[in-house]
Amino acid sequence: MAKIIGGIGASHSPTIAFAKDTNKGSDAAWKPIFDDFSVLQNWVHDQKVNVLFLIFNDHITSFFFDHYSPFTLGVDDSYQTADEGGGARDYPPASGHVALSRHIAQSMMNAEFDLATFQKKPLDHGFFSPFSMIAPEKDGAAWKGTVVPLQVGVLQFPAPTAKRCYQFGKALRKAIQSFPDENMRVAIVATGGLSHQVHGERCGFNDEAWDNEFLDALEANPDALTKLTHAEYATKGGFEGAEVIMWLIMRGALSDKVKPVHRSTYLPSMTNIATVIYEDTESVEPVVEDTQLTHQLDGLEKLQGTYPFTLERSHKAYRLNLFLRNLSDPLHRERFLSEKEELMTECQLTKEEKDMVRELKWIEMIQYGAIFFGLEKLSAVMGKSNPEIYASMRGETMAQFQASRKVSMQYSVGKK
Ligand SMILES: [Fe+2]
Repeated sequence: MAKIIGGIGASHSPTIAFAKDTNKGSDAAWKPIFDDFSVLQNWVHDQKVNVLFLIFNDHITSFFFDHYSPFTLGVDDSYQTADEGGGARDYPPASGHVALSRHIAQSMMNAEFDLATFQKKPLDHGFFSPFSMIAPEKDGAAWKGTVVPLQVGVLQFPAPTAKRCYQFGKALRKAIQSFPDENMRVAIVATGGLSHQVHGERCGFNDEAWDNEFLDALEANPDALTKLTHAEYATKGGFEGAEVIMWLIMRGALSDKVKPVHRSTYLPSMTNIATVIYEDTESVEPVVEDTQLTHQLDGLEKLQGTYPFTLERSHKAYRLNLFLRNLSDPLHRERFLSEKEELMTECQLTKEEKDMVRELKWIEMIQYGAIFFGLEKLSAVMGKSNPEIYASMRGETMAQFQASRKVSMQYSVGKK
C-alpha cells in the first residue's frame, strides 16, 4: 500500500516562480526564498518521495465562474504551465499519476466527498510556483516523480469551510493509504498564504504574529483552526490569505501527531512566504476499503451492450468527445458541414476517429469511448433522429426498432 511520508506547506505567490525564472538566487532580497525552498527540495529528495499530492487554487486562469467547483481533482497524465497573461512559463509539464487519481476519485466519492475532476487544463502559479521550487526540472527534463493536483475553489463564496477541508484531508489519507503500491511514497503539499491581501484599500495587509499562531495551531491543535469562519481568517490574515484553509487538507491527511522538521517565514513585500515540513508519525496498518464501495461498477461487465463512461474512457476518447460536443457551437458546426476533413484534421482526430465520424459508425464510436450525448449532437447536425442511432446501435432496421417501442416516434436534439 502507498505510504504517506509527510506534508509540506508552502506559499504559492507568483514571486517565487518569478525569482526562479529570473535567477535571483544570489540577490539578498530574494535569497531567503531560495534557501527555504531548497530545504523542501532536499527533503523530497532525501525521503525518496515519488508522488506529490499538491493542493492549490487556480486564479481564474483555467477555472472560471461559468462553472466553479469546491474540490476538483486532476485526473490527467500530464499538466502544462498556463498562460496567465504574459505567455506560459517555459517549464516542462508535470507528469500525472492517473491510476492514483482515479483511485482517489472513487475513494473520496465512497467517503461522500463528491469530487469534480479535470483534465486538459494548464495549471497556473498556484501549482507551478511552489512545484517548480520543490521538484525542479533537471537539464530541461521534468521531475521524475508524479503529481496529483487538487484545485480548491476558494475565490468565490460560498467556499468550503475550514472544517470541511480538514475532514477532506482525513478521507484523503485513507484514499491514499489504500492504493495498492508498496513503493509509492507520497507527500501532501498544501499551498497558499500566509497572510496577504491583494485587493481593495486594505491591500498590503499582513500580520506575522497571526501567521505564527496559525502555524503553531496547525501543527499541534488543528481542530481549533477548523472552528474559524472565512471572515475570521480574512480578518486575521487578509482576505486572500484566507486560502490557508487549504493547509488543513494537508494537515488532515497526516497522523494526529506530526514531527515538525522545518518551518520558516519571510515577508519581503505583500505575502508572508512560508515553508513547513511535517513528517508523519504513524506507521498505520494499510487501510482496506469496503470492497463493495470501492468497486461500484463491478458486475457491470456482465451487462451485454453496456459501456460505463469511466475516467479511463473519458481520458482515452477526450479528443473525439470534445469534437462531438463542439458541434453545439454554430461555427464548428458550419465548418463541419462545409469542410469536414480539414476540421477533423485540425482537431487532431486519428484516422480511426475520422472514419467513425464521417461514416456515422454509432456503435463503433460508443465502443471506442464516445459518450452517447456527443452522438446525438452529430446526428442532429446530420439531420438524423435519435431512433436512427438506437436502431443502428442495436443492429436493427428502423422498422424493427420502432416495432419494439410502445409508440413509434421520431425526435432529435436538433430544432426540427
Ligand atoms: Fe492563491
